[in-house]
Amino acid sequence: MSRLQLRPWRLLSSPPRGIRGLALLALTALSLAAGSDCPCPEPELCRPIRHHPDFEVFVFDVGQKTWKSYDWSQITTVATFGKYDSELMCYAHSKGARVVLKGDVSLKDIIDPASRASWIAQKVNLAKTQYMDGINIDIEQEVNCLSPEYDALTALVKETTDTFHREIEGSQVTFDVAWSPKNIDRRCYNYTGIADACDFLFVMSYDEQSQIWSECIAAANAPYNQTLTGYNDYIKMSINPKKLVMGVPWYGYDYTCLNLSEDHVCTIAKVPFRGAPCSDAAGRQVPYKMIMKQINSSISGNQWDKDQQAPYYNYKDPAGHFHQVWYDNPQSISLKATYIQNYGLRGIGMWNANCLDYSGDTVAKQQTEEMWEVLKPKLLQR
Ligand SMILES: *[C@@H]1O[C@H](CO)[C@@H](O)[C@H](O)[C@H]1NC(C)=O
Ligand SMILES: *[C@@H]1O[C@H](CO)[C@@H](O)[C@H](O)[C@H]1NC(C)=O
Ligand SMILES: *[C@@H]1O[C@H](CO)[C@@H](O)[C@H](O)[C@H]1NC(C)=O
Ligand SMILES: *[C@@H]1O[C@H](CO)[C@@H](O)[C@H](O)[C@H]1NC(C)=O
Repeated sequence: MSRLQLRPWRLLSSPPRGIRGLALLALTALSLAAGSDCPCPEPELCRPIRHHPDFEVFVFDVGQKTWKSYDWSQITTVATFGKYDSELMCYAHSKGARVVLKGDVSLKDIIDPASRASWIAQKVNLAKTQYMDGINIDIEQEVNCLSPEYDALTALVKETTDTFHREIEGSQVTFDVAWSPKNIDRRCYNYTGIADACDFLFVMSYDEQSQIWSECIAAANAPYNQTLTGYNDYIKMSINPKKLVMGVPWYGYDYTCLNLSEDHVCTIAKVPFRGAPCSDAAGRQVPYKMIMKQINSSISGNQWDKDQQAPYYNYKDPAGHFHQVWYDNPQSISLKATYIQNYGLRGIGMWNANCLDYSGDTVAKQQTEEMWEVLKPKLLQR
């Protein structure tokens, strides 16, 4: 049930100044190599980004043109999960932000080293022809600990990283992982091996109800405690916090309640997922912009759950059924994001940037700005 992921990192100083002639020469060589088909207004916008930011803001984009309204003062990487958009690539480069491909492949197809190599070669070539700065590997498949897929996956990440770094200067290779390393959704992965093998992991701190083992009731997409326990577990297995980017949801879940009790307990249908009796598959994912439009017509008004540190509301649909909607807002996100500074994570990101309202409507504009604002690193509390 997990759907997405992210990633970032690397510490390097800005390119040395001086030696102008050399830089110019390099530029000329590059634009020649890049060929005449650079789609950007300036040929240098087709060059890969080489700067490595201290703090990563990793954004997933799923298409269309909403990216024009993103807060580019913060973005360091855009993972493009929609159609290729050369205008987005040129614009991101003009803002010093990387643009990376989506990488997904059926693991049974890359157990053989030769098929792995050919998949990687194809991705590197695509990245070069589209002037991209790397790849975000989003494999959310079930893997058995004792299967050949287990080692093949680690090898895939290692070989992809080595090839991209060699072929595209400054490129970034990241890997999306579940909210916890503890076999979520039957994903037995070599997390330490994968973290070592790539630039960083994008931790998908959402879809945390993909496997509900206790009572089948609606709950938060990314409860506070559960989310932070996941990071503690990654760090306990000695993954460097600088290899972890916190992924937060800009969407929520709308559950139809079989029964809604007076104290707001919403019983949900039993929809099994990978061995668990119920899951968030009983609900429907809804973007933040829709949630913000619906709250005012709810029957409960906005509620705050103290245990999960998350907002929710109840509403009645036209057919008379009760629903409960759980989501994240600036308050719940900023509580979790405090962990980033306290534990020295590499950055933050979200699935996905398109979920906000960029229509320019006055109320929506304010809500959208607040969501971007909480991504900014907070001052350490001493
Ligand atoms: C994980 O991968 C690393 C690098 O390939 C390897 O050295 C290590 O033995 C693997 N760990 C496990 C538990 O398989
Ligand atoms: C269903 O909701 C009603 C109304 O709040 C409540 O009285 C009843 O106990 C609930 N039933 C179950 C099985 O939870
Ligand atoms: C919802 O209600 C609040 C408080 O009355 C108001 O400020 C806000 O503009 C309303 N939002 C929408 C989308 O109508
Ligand atoms: C969350 O974690 C804190 C600290 O470990 C604990 O005191 C608290 O009871 C937990 N809350 C819930 C709802 O699990």
